[in-house]
Amino acid sequence: MRKYLIIVSVILAAALCTCVFAATLTHKSIDIESGVSVYVDGEKLNPSDVNGNAVDVFTSGGTTYLPARAISEALGCKIDWNDAEARVDITTDSGKTADAVSGATQTQPAGKKILVAYFSREGSSYPQEGVDTITSASLPVGNTKLLAEHINSMVGGDLFQIVTEEPYPGNYIETTEKAQTEKEQNARPALSTHVDNMDEYDVIFIGYPTWWSSVPMPIYSFLEEYDLSGKTVIPFRTHHEGSVGTPDNSEIKALCPNSNVLTGISVPGSKVDSSDDAVRDWLDGLDY
Ligand SMILES: Cc1cc2nc3c(=O)[nH]c(=O)nc-3n(C[C@H](O)[C@H](O)[C@H](O)COP(=O)(O)O)c2cc1C
Repeated sequence: MRKYLIIVSVILAAALCTCVFAATLTHKSIDIESGVSVYVDGEKLNPSDVNGNAVDVFTSGGTTYLPARAISEALGCKIDWNDAEARVDITTDSGKTADAVSGATQTQPAGKKILVAYFSREGSSYPQEGVDTITSASLPVGNTKLLAEHINSMVGGDLFQIVTEEPYPGNYIETTEKAQTEKEQNARPALSTHVDNMDEYDVIFIGYPTWWSSVPMPIYSFLEEYDLSGKTVIPFRTHHEGSVGTPDNSEIKALCPNSNVLTGISVPGSKVDSSDDAVRDWLDGLDY
């Protein structure tokens, strides 16, 4: 699979090059090393153009140039050339353009559209090394946002940040008080971001920080805003201590009674950056 993705990246590099050349009609003389062989899934490919003529594969200036049509078709991708825009469109069998999945290291379920939605706070959190938890010293990026980005890079979905109209304080203690009040009042904080095309998604990853041993109220606002019946919902969360584990899904299940809620993952905020293997194992064990 990694080989596949590397090849896709190279195709895109080649395709982009073609666009630039075509769009600017620049003629360049370049030194090439020809005779490069291409193997797809272990089988040698003899690339040809649309008329069946053999096409050279070569290296120049450290970049290997592959014929986009031949390679795309060998990989089962649809390819279109748009003359007016001097543009190449490569479409994978999941319906996404190749550049949308080129960062993914795991196969996305065929034909399924994935949303990775998350709520995360960028203020100080306990305990964060090097961050003053009492003052309003800010983390540049919230832990859950980082985890959402890791997950999205593995599943090739669309990333979506759940944002409240009223921001939470940067100060940790003030945030705990506000969160506690919201919990006691069973509040539904108003959100300023919305998913316009929720109907299109089959799988929704939903991420949040643990607040008072439970789910922050903005997640209630989010999950109640949409009809997620029949969709697969997969929770992930960060927390402040302990090892990577399985969160209690009961709150999410109660919020999505007609969804297929799968086993989530819980990662300590301070370990998000070193959790890739655990996250990959978790994803591999999910049937979605
Ligand atoms: C209001 C509030 C309540 C929290 N409650 C808990 C808790 O009950 N248990 C826990 O392990 N961590 C708790 N934490 C810590 C966060 O879950 C943890 O730092 C998380 O990684 C923060 O994610 P974020 O940076 O995406 O907001 C709490 C943090 C805040 C701000």
